[in-house]
Amino acid sequence: MKLYIDSADVKQISRINEYYPISGVTTNPSIIVRENRPFIELLKEIRQVIGHEKELFVQLIGDSAEEMIEEAKFINGKLAGNVVVKIPVTEEGIKAIRLLDSEKIPTLATTIYTSFQALIAAVAGAKYVAPYVNRIDNLTGNGVKVVSEINKLFNTYQLPTEILAASFKNVQQVHDVCLSGAKGATVGTELIEKFIAFPATLQDVKVFKDEWQTLYRTRTIIY
Ligand code: E4P
Repeated sequence: MKLYIDSADVKQISRINEYYPISGVTTNPSIIVRENRPFIELLKEIRQVIGHEKELFVQLIGDSAEEMIEEAKFINGKLAGNVVVKIPVTEEGIKAIRLLDSEKIPTLATTIYTSFQALIAAVAGAKYVAPYVNRIDNLTGNGVKVVSEINKLFNTYQLPTEILAASFKNVQQVHDVCLSGAKGATVGTELIEKFIAFPATLQDVKVFKDEWQTLYRTRTIIY
């Protein structure tokens, strides 16, 4: 499973990147605007924190395919390292994905609500698709089921496109998409911190240490 940080908060990214096995950082316009600062400078700082190998996802906002392609080239020119442009699955977006694929510029098809949208984006040449799990749930749909259907379609047509599930509000959703064929998930920092938090684990660690100290009079195995 590939885990991505869905944030543009440099401090939080730095902390999570230090502790967790992160494959990259995803952003969208709302996430970037929240930081309230020049965005190229912000993205360069994120790049510095995660290094050049890990993927950095930047969403395009152009209306036409031509505008999106221009933006994709602009962002690739500004940022070093592994960059993936995120493109909404509109008609213009699908056209842009096709054209960028022919130029070997990697794309992620975003704002995905149905498995059929994901299928079309994959056939168009998207490297990733991002189904919006929690937003689907909020529309009384079933985000996890959509991920499972996308996985089935990609297997049926032997498409190399990866599911990078997005939009989560709880750990159960992330867990369930992992069981439903998602290759990756992009998750906010607060939720990532809940992944392994479990009171019984901390209690066990304390008991182990206390018992050790009772006999050896030290809280380390180094002597
Ligand atoms: C991915 O980057 C998406 O834009 C993001 O996960 C959406 O999440 P939200 O529904 O919590 O805003």
